[in-house]
Formats: sequence, structure tokens, C-alpha cells
Amino acid sequence: MAKKKSLFECQACGFQSPRWLGKCTNCGEWDSMVELNSEQIKFIEESKKSSFNKIVKATPITEIMQDDIDRFSSGSRELDLVLGGGIVSGSLTLIGGSPGIGKSTLLLKIAGNLAKMNRGVLYVSGEESAGQIKLRANRLDVNYDNLFLLAEINLQYIMQEINSKNYNFVVIDSIQTLYSEETSSAPGSVTQVRTITFELMRLAKSLDIPIFIIGHITKDGSIAGPRVLEHMVDTVLYFEGDLNSELRLLRGFKNRFGSTNEVGIFEMSKSGLLDAKSVAGKFFSRDKLSSGSALTVIMEGSRPIIIEIQALVAEAYGHPKRSSTGFDNNRLNMLLALLEKKLDLPLGTYDVFVNISGGIKINEPSADLAIIASILSSYRDRELSSKTIFLGEVSLTGDIREVTALNQRLKEIKTQGFTKAVIPNRPLEETTIKCYIADEVSKVVEWM
Ligand SMILES: Nc1ncnc2c1ncn2[C@@H]1O[C@H](COP(=O)(O)OP(=O)(O)OP(=O)(O)O)[C@@H](O)[C@H]1O
Ligand SMILES: [Mg+2]
Repeated sequence: MAKKKSLFECQACGFQSPRWLGKCTNCGEWDSMVELNSEQIKFIEESKKSSFNKIVKATPITEIMQDDIDRFSSGSRELDLVLGGGIVSGSLTLIGGSPGIGKSTLLLKIAGNLAKMNRGVLYVSGEESAGQIKLRANRLDVNYDNLFLLAEINLQYIMQEINSKNYNFVVIDSIQTLYSEETSSAPGSVTQVRTITFELMRLAKSLDIPIFIIGHITKDGSIAGPRVLEHMVDTVLYFEGDLNSELRLLRGFKNRFGSTNEVGIFEMSKSGLLDAKSVAGKFFSRDKLSSGSALTVIMEGSRPIIIEIQALVAEAYGHPKRSSTGFDNNRLNMLLALLEKKLDLPLGTYDVFVNISGGIKINEPSADLAIIASILSSYRDRELSSKTIFLGEVSLTGDIREVTALNQRLKEIKTQGFTKAVIPNRPLEETTIKCYIADEVSKVVEWM
């Protein structure tokens, strides 16, 4: 009797092996090999055979006509900004975010905006009943005839519905709750998520409709499911924010049709998520600063935003703790080591905590100087002037390096009524802000 052929495929990278492997030898993922069934093996073998007979010919790039990207507005200035100028027809977008952050609220609001503009919209929910969504729709005031709800988890039924009407926009809430009859694994499993995403991608391209998928995130903040999910879709956005504050940030992580520099800023209100009209002044307080607080200005995409950094330096009982929210912990350790070495501060016997207000996560090094200023302020228990902004990247040698878009940042500092700035080098353009040059970490103390 002929031995049954077996073939295993890695769910993370697609690597195939005739043996089961605990760890994929291609991508290093653990426990990712899944056995393919006889039909899948047959399909692979046949496609291999047919590719032997096929003659393919490459085309010179000069003879290829470019695809036209057709965009339309989502009705939200902030979402359009993050997407690079609006929703692209036929694109598949994945939005991830922590539980309760407002993913369903945002997409139902966008669905409502589009339905109001006479576009046919389908909102599919595998998590909530239609009645529950209606409750949210009432709150968001999006009751339009063109907005259709479908509470369903079977992908085949959902695809039937999408094919049956002329929808212009589809929302899937969420990918982890759907299941496809084509695979036998449970909803939310790697195989299911991958199969469903692939089917939805095919549907979006063939019908030329944009599909937005909501994805749950894991404890470490990445979208639950295989990493290939992020590779498969056109755009990946993350919805972030502090649940205690009303501000929410929508950040581009990947975009096949635009840059990922821009950040959308929304406010959660009783009537849903609104585009933040003005973000200036929302991430710092104008009152007198307490000791341990310092101000800086970061660039979120093309927007300069003034933020407050808070540090707490307290004598340690036992092993000193270092922890930061919204700032890289390794970078904090590096700055503390530098302070110990250059300023002779005995920080090894202190706990140090750093927090960035408003749920902002700092992704650029320009805030280093302000972090140092806030730590020094807390250590010495001396308040900093509430009219001074600190700007600069600190290097391992203690030099303070230039920051990008200095003039744009100084303009924002001026608009917000600040008068002084501690910066690494003289600005190229004239400014009425009093600039103190701190090119070395020890100089910061002079200007505090
Ligand atoms: N009546 C209300 N007024 C103000 N805010 C509300 C109101 N009802 C709900 N919210 C806000 O909406 C948030 C829930 O939003 P939503 O259900 O869109 O989140 P989600 O990211 O889809 O969550 P999940 O991961 O559970 O699906 C709540 O955390 C709350 O902040
Ligand atoms: Mg939800």
C-alpha cells in the first residue's frame, strides 16, 4: 500500500516541510507547522505541474501602464490624513487596538459618514448583535438607509451578502471572530485568520471595494494572529491612547498607498469619536509646573505637539526600579547611566519613573533633553519654568545633537506662548524665542 504523503506548512511564513517541526527552520517561529490535508497537497502538486508547462514572459517596465489609485474621503479629516489622502478603492485595511479603545466606534462613525454621502456601506459584526450596534449607531447619530448591519460570523454568508449588493465600503468587526468553512480550525486560529484575510483581499480587489478589518491585539501590542496578516493587507493602522484620557491616536504602521508618518488625533466624546479640532494645548497644562515636570515639543507626522514629561526620582528600598510609560525603557536606562557618569548623580540608589502625559508614545529621540530635565528637576525637587521648552537628542558621549524640523517646532513653541527654549544649536531662521544653547549634557543644569 502506498504511504500517505504528508506535508506541513508554517503558518507564519509559508515554509513547507515533509516533517513536522517544533520550530520553523525558515522564520524561527515555534509551534507554527500545520499539517495540510490531502486536497491542499493535491492543489500544490497540480499548481507545480501546471507551472512547468506554462510559458511566462516579463514585460519591460516602460511598456507597463500604471494603475490609477482611486481615493475618496472618509468624511474624517484625521483618518484621511493617516491613509495618505483618503480611502483607496479595492484596498484592505487592518485596524488594531486594545480592548475598549474605540475601534468599533471609529469604524461605525466612518461607515455613517460614507452612508450619509450616499455610498452603500456594510458593517459586519461577529462580536455584537445588530441591536447592540444600533445602540451605538443612535449614540453616534448614524442612522442612514444606506448603512446595512450584518451580525454574522460565517465568512461564506458574509461574502454572499457583499456580492449581492453594490456596496462601496465594508467593515469587518473583527477578523478573529469569523470562521471559514474551508478550514476546520477554530475562529481566531492562525489558519482561519490567514484564510479569511486572503479571501477578503481577493474580494476587495475583484469588486474594487475598500474593506476595513478590525483586529484584536496581543499583550505585547501587536495584532493577534500570524505576522503574515500584516504582510497580506495593504494598510495597517494602530489605534492607541490612554483609556483615562479622551484623546485617541491613529497611527500608520504600514501603507502601500502613502507614507506612515502621519498620525490622526481623535477625541472620544458622548456622541462618539470626533476629529480633534485643535490638538495644541491638550498634552500639557499651562499651570505652574511641579517639580519633576518638563516640556518638550515632538513631531507627530507633520504636526508639532507640545507635551509634558513627568519624572519621579525617589530613594530606593532594595533593588532600584526603572520604569517608563510612553518612552523606551532602554533609552531611559541609557540616559540615567549618562547622568551618573557626567553629572556624578548617585542614581544607582534611586527608583526612577517616567511618564508621558496624554497617552502619547515618544518614538523620536528629540525628547531626551526634556527627560533629563524632568529627572534632574525631581531629583533636586526644584520646579522648572513653565515657559521653557527642552529639545535635543542626547548621545552616548553626552553631546546634545540636532533635532529635525527645529524651525517648525520653534514656531509652535511661539504660537503656544512659550518664551524660552533650551536647544542644541542656533536656529537657522530668526525667532523671538530666547534660545539657550546646550550642546552638552552638563550644560543643561545651567539653564534649569
Ligand atoms: N455613552 C458613552 N459616552 C461616552 N463614551 C462612551 C459611551 N459609551 C461607550 N463609550 C466609550 O467607547 C468605548 C468603547 O468603544 P468601542 O466599543 O468602540 O471599543 P472597541 O475598541 O471596539 O472595543 P472591543 O475591543 O471591546 O470591541 C468605551 O471604552 C468608552 O470609552
Ligand atoms: Mg468593538
